[in-house]
Amino acid sequence: MDNFNFYSPTEFVFGRDRENETGALVKKHGGSRVLIHYGGGSAVKSGLLDRVKKSLEAEGLFYTELGGVKPNPRDTLIYEGIEICRRDNIDFILSVGGGSCIDSSKGIAAGACYDGDFWDFYAKKATVQAALPIGTVLTIAAAGSEGSGGSVVTQEKTMLKRDTGSDLLRPRFSVLNPALTCTLPAYQTACGAADIMAHVFERYFTNTPEVEITDRLCEAVLLTMVKETPRVIADPDNYEARANIMWAGTVAHNDIVGVGRSQDWNSHGIEHELSGLYDCAHGAGLAVIMPAWMEFVMNHNVMRFAQMAVRVWGCQMNFENPELTAKEGIFRFRRFLHDIGLPINLAELGAKEEDIPKLVENQNVADRTWGFVRLSPEDIAEIYRIAARAEV
Ligand code: NZQ
Ligand code: ZN
Repeated sequence: MDNFNFYSPTEFVFGRDRENETGALVKKHGGSRVLIHYGGGSAVKSGLLDRVKKSLEAEGLFYTELGGVKPNPRDTLIYEGIEICRRDNIDFILSVGGGSCIDSSKGIAAGACYDGDFWDFYAKKATVQAALPIGTVLTIAAAGSEGSGGSVVTQEKTMLKRDTGSDLLRPRFSVLNPALTCTLPAYQTACGAADIMAHVFERYFTNTPEVEITDRLCEAVLLTMVKETPRVIADPDNYEARANIMWAGTVAHNDIVGVGRSQDWNSHGIEHELSGLYDCAHGAGLAVIMPAWMEFVMNHNVMRFAQMAVRVWGCQMNFENPELTAKEGIFRFRRFLHDIGLPINLAELGAKEEDIPKLVENQNVADRTWGFVRLSPEDIAEIYRIAARAEV
């Protein structure tokens, strides 16, 4: 196991009706002038936004609002948010929504404390040195942004999707009420599940030996997702299954399952070009890319893939030919994604095989040269081609 620091300062407030404590939590974490940031309308429609506002009013807190965050959040709204923060002397940002809303909030939080263009953080021209504090009321189990220091934003004029990260962007608190996720359409629930599983796999496929504890934690999260996802797809109001998925989503990405081991993240990078170019859901893009990446890199460490096949997908170990076991595990993963209603090839995602050269060209290929297996531009193109041919 490698040396590590584990820093996860977020206060997680979990359970039914906990959003009614939002005002008290903002106050506890030092906020007095709040920007409430939300998405395209689900939080308005469900009445959540009104409940959150009431709880701020009950604490006598000033607030202003900025709605309209789109999935794959855009830089343009972040510029607006930064202006509002400066104009209204905002000292706390409250995100009410999903990963896109939280990531947009993080862009505003960093940008409001920076004299230059906030995009510098995403273009890797500057690192975050200060940020306004953020709190979240989460409405979808997926991105894990409620416990991470990461943020992913799309630049409207280029449709390039880029990320940044800093411990300063970790939320001060995150309210996790699983009941809020019951209104999610089945497709969004499935996209979230794929993202959660991908966050674990990005850590599971490691070159660090002797990491039993984090291997087993990863497998626990994966087994939970395999069990609970079909349950909520069949029965969207199943609170207990929603609760297990919601906590799995946070645990999958606050890095508790990834510390002390090298990680990969190439599937995420390869996927971000898809959700940037086609504006598809990140989890759907991962459903297409992650099994394709697995097939491409499998021979780098067949035994690790066979371990996944046996422990997560219940495959029988073939000691004569572990490669067959590994392949069976990947096949079962792809079939699982298909069965929960996700696309498994480029065409089903709405992506075009002829765009592969552009998808390769768009990415910062230097970012693909570390991880479980270093990838060349030709390797990346081959992964997209495997994704184009995939079927169950
Ligand atoms: O905008 P509204 O109306 O709220 O609708 C959203 C949106 O259309 C809807 N939704 C959310 N909660 C709902 C709901 N609909 C009904 N009932 C509810 N309770 O779901 C749609 C998707 O929302 P979004 O916030 O985009 O989903 P998600 O949480 O999957 O976030 C995806 C974004 O996070 C980034 C992705 O790249 C993508 O841009 N990621 C962020 C990470 C991070 N910051 O650490 C890591 C991830 O790997 C990921 O890259
Ligand atoms: Zn993700």
